[in-house]
Amino acid sequence: MGARPQFIKHAPVSKELKKHFVLKTIHTGQHYDFRLSEIFFKELNMDEPDFLLKIGSHTHGIQTGLMLMEIEKVLLIEKPKVVLVYGDTNSTLAGAIAASKLGILIAHVEAGLRGFNRDLPEEINRILTDHVSTFLFAPTKNSVQNLKNEGIVENVFLCGDVMLDSILLAKKLIGNVEEGNFYLVTLHRPYNTDSIERLISILDTINELHFPSVFPIHPRTRVKLEENGIDISKYFNVKFVPPTSYLELVRLQMQAKAVITDSGGVQKEAYILGKRCITLRKETEWGETLIGNWNYLIFNNLEMIGEALKLPLSHYNRGLFGDGKASQFIANRILNGISRSDI
Ligand code: UD1
Repeated sequence: MGARPQFIKHAPVSKELKKHFVLKTIHTGQHYDFRLSEIFFKELNMDEPDFLLKIGSHTHGIQTGLMLMEIEKVLLIEKPKVVLVYGDTNSTLAGAIAASKLGILIAHVEAGLRGFNRDLPEEINRILTDHVSTFLFAPTKNSVQNLKNEGIVENVFLCGDVMLDSILLAKKLIGNVEEGNFYLVTLHRPYNTDSIERLISILDTINELHFPSVFPIHPRTRVKLEENGIDISKYFNVKFVPPTSYLELVRLQMQAKAVITDSGGVQKEAYILGKRCITLRKETEWGETLIGNWNYLIFNNLEMIGEALKLPLSHYNRGLFGDGKASQFIANRILNGISRSDI
């Protein structure tokens, strides 16, 4: 693992894995800022990673290539039976390729997700990782179907979503909170932040909304605003704060009137927490959340955000992301699978 959402997923999964296996963790160093990495380990009481590769930020090819080289070295020494990877980041792909080249079994948590837009690095990472994986842990029925459409039917397990497990853990630590009068905003995708004109249009629109917004700002987004000399104090209706810890973000989502984001994970968290979400993207890999207006996609017509925030909500599916025991299922299924000779 290496990026923020993977640390969150690892908290419940590592707890279950440790019941059955000797677990060694590789942190690629894709995220290295304290507020994008270390804080999650501390807050979620996780063991320090056994291997810290410190790869850092590069072009995608260099970043993935360096990770592949370094992960292979660890695998050659440690000789694991299974390599488990999460989600769709460059760290996921590097881990999966390194393991596949060495003939090691691969477990992919969050298998089968598709946004059907191959321009995005995450979509390529998902597809390639699924196609080399041995155990495919699919969170939703749609993800099982997506794998089937690509001819992957063996060892596909519908198990619910480990982020529900993480949220249940977080809610216990947070306790009850009351809803406030603000929106929560998170933005970090290159197509929303790399063009300063687009980023400004989004901020202008959010600044005009009926309620103020709280915006924990990803380093990528902050750098873009600084480079372009944007004075953020003019956005009087937007409170910019540093990236939050996981518990802080869950608490903010519980308090917010609604969530405006381009993150895959935050869309899902908002749904689990029963919050309306506006997603500033052309597509989503979590299409099920669009039913009943719980999640609403907006890309070009930003002026629609205000309207979309008022649409009626219906058809909430409480069981969409499983029963909160996905991590337990995953650990048991791997244990079961590796003792069978046909895998
Ligand atoms: C990555 C994942 C994305 C995931 C996100 C979660 C890929 C292709 N993208 O996107 O799927 O949703 O993590 O946050 O793997 N930076 C820092 N400090 C850090 C890390 C990054 O300042 O600790 C800055 C650097 O300028 C870097 C940029 O953010 O170049 C982008 O970081 P990177 O890890 O490449 O992608 P993310 O946008 O974080």
